[in-house]
Amino acid sequence: MGMNLSSDIQRIRHDVVVIGAGGAGLRAAIASSSRGLDTGVVCKSLLGKAHTVMAEGGCAAALGNADSRDNWKVHFRDTMRGGKFLNQWEMAELHAKHAPDEVKLLEQWGAVFDRTPEGLIGQRNFGGHRYPRLAHVGDRTGLEMIRTLQDHAIHQQGIQVHMECTALRIVMDGDKLAGVLAYWRDAGRFVLFECNAVILATGGGGKAWRITSNSWEYTGDGFDLAYKAGAELVNMEFTQFHPTGMVWPPSVRGILVTEGVRGDGGILLNSEGERFMFNYIPEKFAAETADSEEEAERWLAGDKNARRPPELLTRDVVARAITKEVQAGRGSPHGGVFLDIASRRPADVIRRKLPSMYHQFKELAEVDITKDAMEVGPTLHYFMGGIRVDSNTQMTRVPGLFACGECSGGMHGANRLGGNSLSDLLVFGMLAGNGAADYLDKLEATPQASSETVDAAIREATAPLNREEGPNPYLLHEELQDVMNNGVNIVRDKEGLESAIQSLDSLKQKASAVKAHGSSQYNPGWHEAISLSPLLITAESVARAALAREESRGAHTRIDFPGEQDRWQAVHVIISKSADGSMNVRQESAQAPPERLSEIAHSSLTDLEGGSA
Ligand code: FUM
Repeated sequence: MGMNLSSDIQRIRHDVVVIGAGGAGLRAAIASSSRGLDTGVVCKSLLGKAHTVMAEGGCAAALGNADSRDNWKVHFRDTMRGGKFLNQWEMAELHAKHAPDEVKLLEQWGAVFDRTPEGLIGQRNFGGHRYPRLAHVGDRTGLEMIRTLQDHAIHQQGIQVHMECTALRIVMDGDKLAGVLAYWRDAGRFVLFECNAVILATGGGGKAWRITSNSWEYTGDGFDLAYKAGAELVNMEFTQFHPTGMVWPPSVRGILVTEGVRGDGGILLNSEGERFMFNYIPEKFAAETADSEEEAERWLAGDKNARRPPELLTRDVVARAITKEVQAGRGSPHGGVFLDIASRRPADVIRRKLPSMYHQFKELAEVDITKDAMEVGPTLHYFMGGIRVDSNTQMTRVPGLFACGECSGGMHGANRLGGNSLSDLLVFGMLAGNGAADYLDKLEATPQASSETVDAAIREATAPLNREEGPNPYLLHEELQDVMNNGVNIVRDKEGLESAIQSLDSLKQKASAVKAHGSSQYNPGWHEAISLSPLLITAESVARAALAREESRGAHTRIDFPGEQDRWQAVHVIISKSADGSMNVRQESAQAPPERLSEIAHSSLTDLEGGSA
């Protein structure tokens, strides 16, 4: 056992390594490389395949093209209200201020957005946004953004991308980051990326649940890497269930049905044909939301003074309403509700504005959405919680370790508004790239990766191959998904969460003895065994944080603690790794917001309209 495993592994040197090649990772890499740094991108999958493409309906930015009353302050106010005021205030400010410039930059780099009749970037409605604010490309906005960022990163900046390479462990030199150990998924060989700054942009961990819009890559790798390196996770209990995922056929359950369908006029109906969302308008929002179909119609027809329809309430509200309708026996045949755009818009408009949805339903479910309603239900889509970072630099508390995009936490508070993820990944990707560059500017000596950490991580990774026998990794993953779907779902309680945590403890034991058959080459069973650690860290942190927060706020619903509780208004749940290896959970009081921001968040709309200063 005394062999030095790290001595002959492959080594690749970069100044900065970005892990993840979704929108956040690419934007971060462009920022760091623009500062003259040799930047490498490591991605688990093929370049271009990222959850960013699942943000279909648009990128929220207060450009004011569709309604000139819009500006960053209104966007900031909407974001804080949507997040139930648990957002990191400065992050929400930076986001709202920088988003318009980031969208324009993307356009300069070649993104072809839909246009207004005047030729400006078109903007559509989405839940929780006061004005039409989502710059979009039909219902393929994320895809267009990835395409543009990829093109710019590779062809303009010359950034090197290491594909099908999974990051395993952050390697330190004392308290400073010195590299990251990874392995090539095809050959099964290890590689040490020697670098002094790592930017995590790994997205979320939806694959811990059975019904999710996430694809196989999303196993919470960033949470795991950061947690093991000593960073903190913040407010992991806030997991977003997008209200509309496909529910039928089973093979495609969970795939996203864009909110753009509702943004463009689609309505939700139960099995009795009732437009049930009118029954779920929270009192707090009644003044902003239509209380009659007639008014909703006026709004949809472009009457700027009418109130918006309840289908465009925030995602937490709509997802819970759908769950209640199904529980009350008013669901669709396959356990969802109906989303109808066919009776609302002409077929050619549907095909033009929602081409992906048209093809998705036609090809996967044999439904023509220009003629029939879709069946939809909630699907685990996004993590509002994540790696705790500094608002301006995106650095974690581990020197040299940065995080941006979905894997970082704080910006969205208790609930994210649709469309804010695409602008989040641009703004915070840009800030993370600059943050890493600033950090390296000040770094005096070059930290060196320690061989002990590398050897230990290699031994841990190869252990499943070297055991004689043990549990099957695929079955453990399925068990994990059942635990999360049963105990840590859209509606939670103490009993269910405690039982989930107990089951997770026993799954951890089993995972530590898991067996992968075959060799390290081309071995999906081994990859699955390796992904159990991040999946379990993700699942446990969500379950423990959800148990700690004894209230219902945003996307976190406790039936044993209904409603928002004052005591929790300004409390963050922080998770870190204890010295004995166990998961530490503590509550921390949020800092008082800067007065200038508090004023904006609590202003009336009339005070903010037209005020962009
Ligand atoms: O519904 C959607 O198109 C998703 C957008 C988002 O999550 O931001």
